[in-house]
Amino acid sequence: MQIQDVFRHYGNDLKQVEEHMEMYLGSEVRLIPEIIHHLIGSGGKRFRPLLLLATADLCGYRGERRYPLAAVIEFIHTASLLHDDVIDRAETRRGKPAANHLWGNAASVLVGDFLYSKSFKLMTDHGNPAILKLLSTTTNTMSEGEVFQLMKAGDVNLTEKEYLLIVEKKTSILISAACAVGGILGNAPDNRIEALTRFGMRLGTAFQITDDTLDYVAREEEFGKAIGQDLKEGKLTLPLIRTMKKCNPEERAFIRKGIEEKNEEATAEIMALIGRYGGIDYALAKAKACIDEARGFLAGFEDSEARTALSSIADYIIERRL
Ligand code: IPE
Ligand code: IPE
Ligand code: MG
Ligand code: MG
Repeated sequence: MQIQDVFRHYGNDLKQVEEHMEMYLGSEVRLIPEIIHHLIGSGGKRFRPLLLLATADLCGYRGERRYPLAAVIEFIHTASLLHDDVIDRAETRRGKPAANHLWGNAASVLVGDFLYSKSFKLMTDHGNPAILKLLSTTTNTMSEGEVFQLMKAGDVNLTEKEYLLIVEKKTSILISAACAVGGILGNAPDNRIEALTRFGMRLGTAFQITDDTLDYVAREEEFGKAIGQDLKEGKLTLPLIRTMKKCNPEERAFIRKGIEEKNEEATAEIMALIGRYGGIDYALAKAKACIDEARGFLAGFEDSEARTALSSIADYIIERRL
Protein backbone atom coordinates (compact mmCIF):
# COMPACT_ATOMS: atom_id res chain seq x y z
CA MET A 1 0.00 0.00 0.00
CA GLN A 2 1.33 3.44 -0.96
CA ILE A 3 0.56 6.41 1.26
CA GLN A 4 -1.86 7.81 -1.36
CA ASP A 5 -3.78 4.53 -1.13
CA VAL A 6 -3.97 4.88 2.64
CA PHE A 7 -5.37 8.41 2.37
CA ARG A 8 -7.81 7.16 -0.27
CA HIS A 9 -8.83 4.16 1.85
CA TYR A 10 -9.78 6.49 4.72
CA GLY A 11 -10.94 9.27 2.36
CA ASN A 12 -14.60 9.26 3.41
CA ASP A 13 -13.68 9.25 7.08
CA LEU A 14 -11.19 12.08 6.59
CA LYS A 15 -13.91 14.06 4.85
CA GLN A 16 -16.10 13.57 7.91
CA VAL A 17 -13.27 14.86 10.09
CA GLU A 18 -12.99 17.97 7.88
CA GLU A 19 -16.73 18.56 8.18
CA HIS A 20 -16.56 18.21 11.94
CA MET A 21 -13.67 20.67 12.15
CA GLU A 22 -15.63 23.13 10.05
CA MET A 23 -18.65 22.75 12.29
CA TYR A 24 -16.61 23.37 15.47
CA LEU A 25 -14.60 26.39 14.41
CA GLY A 26 -17.57 28.70 14.16
CA SER A 27 -17.72 31.76 16.39
CA GLU A 28 -19.52 35.07 16.22
CA VAL A 29 -16.12 36.61 16.80
CA ARG A 30 -15.15 36.79 13.14
CA LEU A 31 -11.39 36.78 13.61
CA ILE A 32 -11.51 33.24 15.04
CA PRO A 33 -12.91 31.40 12.00
CA GLU A 34 -10.90 33.72 9.73
CA ILE A 35 -7.54 32.72 11.21
CA ILE A 36 -8.42 29.04 11.61
CA HIS A 37 -9.75 28.86 8.05
CA HIS A 38 -6.58 30.44 6.78
CA LEU A 39 -4.50 27.78 8.46
CA ILE A 40 -6.60 24.66 7.91
CA GLY A 41 -7.48 25.80 4.39
CA SER A 42 -3.80 26.13 3.45
CA GLY A 43 -3.26 22.38 3.47
CA GLY A 44 -1.69 20.24 6.13
CA LYS A 45 -1.26 16.54 5.76
CA ARG A 46 -3.93 15.49 8.34
CA PHE A 47 -1.55 12.74 9.25
CA ARG A 48 -2.55 12.68 12.95
CA PRO A 49 -6.31 12.25 12.27
CA LEU A 50 -5.37 9.56 9.75
CA LEU A 51 -3.51 7.69 12.50
CA LEU A 52 -6.50 7.87 14.81
CA LEU A 53 -8.81 6.54 12.08
CA ALA A 54 -6.44 3.72 11.18
CA THR A 55 -5.77 2.62 14.77
CA ALA A 56 -9.51 2.74 15.58
CA ASP A 57 -10.05 0.57 12.49
CA LEU A 58 -7.29 -1.78 13.64
CA CYS A 59 -9.09 -2.21 16.97
CA GLY A 60 -12.50 -2.71 15.40
CA TYR A 61 -14.10 0.66 16.20
CA ARG A 62 -16.30 2.11 13.47
CA GLY A 63 -18.54 4.41 15.53
CA GLU A 64 -19.20 8.11 15.14
CA ARG A 65 -17.00 9.33 17.98
CA ARG A 66 -13.84 8.93 15.92
CA TYR A 67 -14.75 12.06 13.91
CA PRO A 68 -14.96 14.60 16.73
CA LEU A 69 -11.95 13.03 18.42
CA ALA A 70 -9.85 13.10 15.25
CA ALA A 71 -10.89 16.75 14.89
CA VAL A 72 -9.68 17.34 18.47
CA ILE A 73 -6.26 15.87 17.65
CA GLU A 74 -5.96 18.09 14.56
CA PHE A 75 -7.12 21.14 16.56
CA ILE A 76 -4.50 20.52 19.25
CA HIS A 77 -1.91 20.23 16.47
CA THR A 78 -3.20 23.43 14.81
CA ALA A 79 -3.08 25.30 18.11
CA SER A 80 0.50 24.17 18.66
CA LEU A 81 1.44 25.41 15.18
CA LEU A 82 -0.09 28.83 15.83
CA HIS A 83 1.91 29.14 19.04
CA ASP A 84 5.06 27.61 17.56
CA ASP A 85 5.09 30.07 14.66
CA VAL A 86 4.94 32.98 17.09
CA ILE A 87 7.86 31.59 19.07
CA ASP A 88 9.86 30.73 15.94
CA ARG A 89 8.94 34.03 14.22
CA ALA A 90 7.92 31.96 11.21
CA GLU A 91 7.01 33.76 8.00
CA THR A 92 5.61 30.83 6.07
CA ARG A 93 3.40 27.90 7.01
CA ARG A 94 1.85 25.43 4.57
CA GLY A 95 3.06 27.49 1.64
CA LYS A 96 1.20 30.62 2.79
CA PRO A 97 2.16 33.55 5.00
CA ALA A 98 2.08 32.37 8.65
CA ALA A 99 -0.85 33.65 10.76
CA ASN A 100 1.46 35.62 13.05
CA HIS A 101 2.79 37.36 9.97
CA LEU A 102 -0.68 38.36 8.80
CA TRP A 103 -2.52 39.03 12.07
CA GLY A 104 0.26 39.48 14.59
CA ASN A 105 1.41 37.52 17.63
CA ALA A 106 -1.43 38.40 19.99
CA ALA A 107 -4.14 37.17 17.62
CA SER A 108 -2.20 33.96 16.91
CA VAL A 109 -1.71 33.16 20.58
CA LEU A 110 -5.35 33.86 21.45
CA VAL A 111 -6.78 31.84 18.57
CA GLY A 112 -4.40 29.03 19.55
CA ASP A 113 -5.93 29.23 23.04
CA PHE A 114 -9.40 29.12 21.50
CA LEU A 115 -8.46 25.87 19.75
CA TYR A 116 -7.02 24.32 22.90
CA SER A 117 -10.08 25.20 24.96
CA LYS A 118 -12.43 24.08 22.19
CA SER A 119 -10.56 20.78 22.16
CA PHE A 120 -11.16 20.32 25.87
CA LYS A 121 -14.84 21.02 25.46
CA LEU A 122 -15.06 18.51 22.61
CA MET A 123 -13.22 15.82 24.50
CA THR A 124 -15.55 16.14 27.48
CA ASP A 125 -18.51 15.90 25.07
CA HIS A 126 -17.25 12.98 23.01
CA GLY A 127 -14.47 11.27 24.94
CA ASN A 128 -14.42 9.16 28.10
CA PRO A 129 -12.32 9.44 31.28
CA ALA A 130 -9.39 7.52 29.74
CA ILE A 131 -9.31 9.77 26.66
CA LEU A 132 -9.64 12.91 28.78
CA LYS A 133 -6.78 11.80 30.99
CA LEU A 134 -4.60 10.95 28.01
CA LEU A 135 -5.23 14.12 26.03
CA SER A 136 -4.95 16.47 28.99
CA THR A 137 -1.60 14.92 29.94
CA THR A 138 -0.56 15.13 26.29
CA THR A 139 -1.23 18.84 25.86
CA ASN A 140 0.46 19.55 29.16
CA THR A 141 3.57 17.64 28.07
CA MET A 142 3.59 19.47 24.72
CA SER A 143 3.68 22.82 26.51
CA GLU A 144 6.46 21.53 28.70
CA GLY A 145 8.39 20.50 25.58
CA GLU A 146 8.03 23.92 23.98
CA VAL A 147 9.22 25.64 27.16
CA PHE A 148 12.16 23.26 27.45
CA GLN A 149 13.05 23.99 23.83
CA LEU A 150 12.84 27.71 24.50
CA MET A 151 15.21 27.34 27.45
CA LYS A 152 17.65 25.55 25.18
CA ALA A 153 17.41 28.00 22.25
CA GLY A 154 20.89 29.10 21.23
CA ASP A 155 22.50 26.55 23.55
CA VAL A 156 25.35 25.13 21.51
CA ASN A 157 25.96 22.44 24.12
CA LEU A 158 22.59 20.76 23.60
CA THR A 159 23.13 17.00 23.69
CA GLU A 160 21.47 14.39 21.53
CA LYS A 161 19.73 13.08 24.63
CA GLU A 162 18.26 16.49 25.47
CA TYR A 163 17.25 16.98 21.85
CA LEU A 164 15.38 13.65 21.87
CA LEU A 165 13.63 14.56 25.10
CA ILE A 166 12.41 17.84 23.56
CA VAL A 167 11.22 15.95 20.49
CA GLU A 168 9.32 13.39 22.53
CA LYS A 169 7.60 16.06 24.56
CA LYS A 170 6.76 18.55 21.83
CA THR A 171 5.93 16.19 18.94
CA SER A 172 5.93 12.44 19.59
CA ILE A 173 3.46 12.61 22.45
CA LEU A 174 0.56 13.91 20.32
CA ILE A 175 1.22 11.43 17.53
CA SER A 176 1.30 8.71 20.15
CA ALA A 177 -1.97 9.95 21.68
CA ALA A 178 -3.67 9.87 18.26
CA CYS A 179 -2.76 6.18 18.04
CA ALA A 180 -3.77 5.37 21.62
CA VAL A 181 -7.18 7.05 21.26
CA GLY A 182 -7.90 4.67 18.36
CA GLY A 183 -7.17 1.75 20.67
CA ILE A 184 -9.24 3.18 23.54
CA LEU A 185 -12.21 3.72 21.21
CA GLY A 186 -11.92 0.09 20.14
CA ASN A 187 -11.87 -1.07 23.79
CA ALA A 188 -8.56 -2.76 23.11
CA PRO A 189 -6.88 -4.52 26.06
CA ASP A 190 -4.22 -2.55 27.96
CA ASN A 191 -1.27 -4.31 26.35
CA ARG A 192 -2.52 -3.33 22.90
CA ILE A 193 -3.11 0.28 23.88
CA GLU A 194 0.42 0.24 25.28
CA ALA A 195 1.75 -1.14 21.97
CA LEU A 196 -0.08 1.59 20.03
CA THR A 197 1.26 4.23 22.43
CA ARG A 198 4.82 3.06 21.86
CA PHE A 199 4.26 2.71 18.12
CA GLY A 200 3.13 6.35 18.04
CA MET A 201 6.06 7.56 20.15
CA ARG A 202 8.62 6.02 17.78
CA LEU A 203 6.68 7.29 14.76
CA GLY A 204 6.56 10.77 16.24
CA THR A 205 10.27 10.89 16.94
CA ALA A 206 11.04 9.75 13.40
CA PHE A 207 8.60 12.38 12.15
CA GLN A 208 10.32 15.26 13.95
CA ILE A 209 13.85 14.08 13.09
CA THR A 210 12.79 13.94 9.44
CA ASP A 211 11.28 17.42 9.74
CA ASP A 212 14.57 18.64 11.16
CA THR A 213 16.53 17.22 8.21
CA LEU A 214 14.00 18.70 5.76
CA ASP A 215 14.57 22.06 7.42
CA TYR A 216 18.09 21.82 5.92
CA VAL A 217 17.54 20.01 2.64
CA ALA A 218 13.91 20.34 1.47
CA ARG A 219 12.73 22.41 -1.47
CA GLU A 220 10.83 25.31 -0.02
CA GLU A 221 7.97 25.12 -2.57
CA GLU A 222 7.42 21.50 -1.62
CA PHE A 223 7.98 21.79 2.14
CA GLY A 224 5.77 24.86 2.53
CA LYS A 225 8.03 26.33 5.25
CA ALA A 226 11.20 28.40 5.03
CA ILE A 227 14.41 26.38 4.78
CA GLY A 228 17.24 26.95 7.25
CA GLN A 229 14.81 28.29 9.84
CA ASP A 230 16.14 26.19 12.72
CA LEU A 231 19.72 27.35 12.30
CA LYS A 232 18.55 30.94 11.96
CA GLU A 233 16.72 30.63 15.28
CA GLY A 234 19.73 29.03 16.98
CA LYS A 235 17.74 25.80 17.31
CA LEU A 236 20.18 22.89 17.38
CA THR A 237 18.70 19.80 15.79
CA LEU A 238 20.15 16.37 15.17
CA PRO A 239 22.12 17.06 11.94
CA LEU A 240 23.98 19.90 13.63
CA ILE A 241 24.33 18.20 17.02
CA ARG A 242 26.01 15.30 15.25
CA THR A 243 28.27 17.63 13.26
CA MET A 244 29.32 19.48 16.43
CA LYS A 245 30.33 16.16 17.91
CA LYS A 246 32.33 14.99 14.91
CA CYS A 247 34.05 18.14 13.64
CA ASN A 248 37.44 19.42 14.80
CA PRO A 249 37.86 22.03 17.58
CA GLU A 250 38.37 24.95 15.16
CA GLU A 251 35.26 24.03 13.22
CA ARG A 252 33.34 23.62 16.46
CA ALA A 253 34.43 27.06 17.61
CA PHE A 254 33.36 28.49 14.25
CA ILE A 255 29.86 26.97 14.51
CA ARG A 256 29.58 28.05 18.14
CA LYS A 257 30.46 31.63 17.28
CA GLY A 258 28.15 31.68 14.25
CA ILE A 259 25.20 30.60 16.39
CA GLU A 260 25.96 32.73 19.41
CA GLU A 261 26.41 35.85 17.29
CA LYS A 262 23.46 34.92 15.07
CA ASN A 263 25.76 35.50 12.14
CA GLU A 264 23.87 34.63 8.99
CA GLU A 265 27.05 34.83 6.93
CA ALA A 266 28.27 31.69 8.69
CA THR A 267 25.21 29.74 7.51
CA ALA A 268 26.63 28.45 4.21
CA GLU A 269 29.80 27.24 5.91
CA ILE A 270 27.83 25.54 8.70
CA MET A 271 25.67 23.82 6.07
CA ALA A 272 28.84 22.66 4.31
CA LEU A 273 30.19 21.24 7.57
CA ILE A 274 26.92 19.34 8.13
CA GLY A 275 27.42 17.88 4.65
CA ARG A 276 31.06 17.02 5.31
CA TYR A 277 30.33 15.22 8.59
CA GLY A 278 27.23 13.39 7.35
CA GLY A 279 24.87 15.09 9.81
CA ILE A 280 21.83 14.60 7.57
CA ASP A 281 22.59 10.94 6.88
CA TYR A 282 23.14 10.32 10.58
CA ALA A 283 19.77 11.87 11.45
CA LEU A 284 17.97 9.98 8.70
CA ALA A 285 19.49 6.71 9.89
CA LYS A 286 18.20 7.48 13.40
CA ALA A 287 14.73 8.19 12.01
CA LYS A 288 14.86 4.93 10.07
CA ALA A 289 15.79 3.03 13.24
CA CYS A 290 12.80 4.58 15.05
CA ILE A 291 10.51 3.43 12.23
CA ASP A 292 11.88 -0.10 12.38
CA GLU A 293 11.25 -0.14 16.11
CA ALA A 294 7.75 1.28 15.59
CA ARG A 295 6.90 -1.46 13.13
CA GLY A 296 7.83 -4.02 15.79
CA PHE A 297 4.96 -2.76 17.95
CA LEU A 298 2.47 -3.67 15.21
CA ALA A 299 3.63 -7.27 15.14
CA GLY A 300 1.23 -8.35 17.90
CA PHE A 301 -1.85 -7.31 15.88
CA GLU A 302 -3.51 -9.67 13.41
CA ASP A 303 -2.77 -9.05 9.78
CA SER A 304 -5.43 -6.71 8.39
CA GLU A 305 -5.85 -3.85 5.96
CA ALA A 306 -5.59 -1.41 8.88
CA ARG A 307 -2.27 -2.90 9.97
CA THR A 308 -0.93 -2.67 6.42
CA ALA A 309 -2.10 0.95 6.31
CA LEU A 310 -0.27 1.76 9.56
CA SER A 311 2.85 0.13 8.27
CA SER A 312 2.65 2.24 5.08
CA ILE A 313 2.20 5.39 7.16
CA ALA A 314 5.37 4.42 9.05
CA ASP A 315 7.33 4.11 5.78
CA TYR A 316 5.97 7.36 4.46
CA ILE A 317 7.19 9.35 7.46
CA ILE A 318 10.83 8.98 6.54
CA GLU A 319 10.29 9.29 2.79
CA ARG A 320 8.22 12.44 2.87
CA ARG A 321 9.32 15.69 1.26
CA LEU A 322 6.44 17.71 2.74
C1 IPE B 1 4.61 20.17 11.65
O1 IPE B 1 3.75 19.09 11.58
C2 IPE B 1 5.14 20.29 13.04
C3 IPE B 1 6.04 19.20 13.40
C4 IPE B 1 5.80 18.43 14.41
C5 IPE B 1 7.26 19.00 12.67
P1 IPE B 1 3.18 18.55 10.21
O2 IPE B 1 4.31 18.34 9.25
O3 IPE B 1 2.29 17.41 10.46
O4 IPE B 1 2.36 19.77 9.67
P2 IPE B 1 1.12 19.82 8.67
O5 IPE B 1 -0.08 19.66 9.52
O6 IPE B 1 1.24 18.73 7.67
O7 IPE B 1 1.22 21.18 8.05
C1 IPE C 1 7.50 21.27 15.95
O1 IPE C 1 8.69 21.92 15.87
C2 IPE C 1 6.50 22.19 16.55
C3 IPE C 1 5.40 21.62 17.27
C4 IPE C 1 5.34 20.44 17.78
C5 IPE C 1 4.28 22.54 17.46
P1 IPE C 1 9.17 22.78 14.64
O2 IPE C 1 9.37 24.18 15.05
O3 IPE C 1 10.29 22.06 13.99
O4 IPE C 1 7.95 22.73 13.64
P2 IPE C 1 7.91 23.53 12.29
O5 IPE C 1 9.14 23.18 11.53
O6 IPE C 1 7.83 24.96 12.64
O7 IPE C 1 6.66 22.99 11.64
MG1 MG D 1 8.60 25.98 14.17
MG1 MG E 1 10.78 22.31 11.78
